[in-house]
Amino acid sequence: MQSNQMIKTTKERAEDLSLLEPRISINRKCQDQSFAAWLQTKLNVSSGETVLDLACGDGEQSIFFDQRIGAHGYLRCVDIHEPSVNKLKAIIARYNRDFVVADMMNFSEYIKEEENFSLIHSSFALPYALNPLEVINTLANHVQKPLGRLAISLPCNPHEMVNFVNSIHDIPETVIPAINLGESLCIKAFRDKFYEVDVAYFHSNLIFDNSNDFMAIYKNSTYYDIDSEQTVLDKVTSTLRAVGKLSFRKCAILITGKHKF
Ligand SMILES: C[S@@+](CC[C@H](N)C(=O)[O-])C[C@H]1O[C@@H](n2cnc3c(N)ncnc32)[C@H](O)[C@@H]1O
Repeated sequence: MQSNQMIKTTKERAEDLSLLEPRISINRKCQDQSFAAWLQTKLNVSSGETVLDLACGDGEQSIFFDQRIGAHGYLRCVDIHEPSVNKLKAIIARYNRDFVVADMMNFSEYIKEEENFSLIHSSFALPYALNPLEVINTLANHVQKPLGRLAISLPCNPHEMVNFVNSIHDIPETVIPAINLGESLCIKAFRDKFYEVDVAYFHSNLIFDNSNDFMAIYKNSTYYDIDSEQTVLDKVTSTLRAVGKLSFRKCAILITGKHKF
């Protein structure tokens, strides 16, 4: 069971763009495969679709949805972090696009009872929800029949950078459950709601040839420990000196439900 303190800390870190932005940009620089490109082929979005992008951030996927669905499609972008939503709005605002600042648990603030979408998508955000199962169950009820889909991506094992850091110091108790969430809870929840459930795994490597990039991700992560920072840096530096680069597998799971019961 998570303590209130842990929930608050995780939520605060999720909302902190100053932590998220460097993490995302160094991830993009050091990752040998593009998650966004992979996801886009998997989601198979068509012109004219109605899309809800939940916890959209500043729009890594929303911008793609906007282009793919075109002027006749409808897109609603939701995130708890107002500056991210405003940043995205400045890029893609037009007729048939809505932007909502809301906690994903406050369903009535961003989805009406009778509304259905042909695609409901959320990437790398479900672990931040107070009740991820309730989010899945509620969103599933707003997927169009018969061909609408709910697609959720999450980090998953192996996450070797976390393992590496965990070999140096303890990491917060919320980190491992967040990495296991897809396989431990979400797949079953999807199978309870949909006739068809696809599970796809994305594998990539984070490759570091300098300690600055590693430390930039580490220091902005949810498992950063200020007291261990120097020890982590020493280990990274000595490994880089010995072998030239550090490579960590970093993976994601995409769960897609179709044909709602
Ligand atoms: C790792 S980012 C992912 C953003 C985007 N989906 C992407 O893949 O680039 C997680 C996002 O979840 C949002 N978030 C965290 N907790 C939330 C909550 N309770 N309700 C809605 N959004 C939340 C954060 O503000 C952040 O934009």
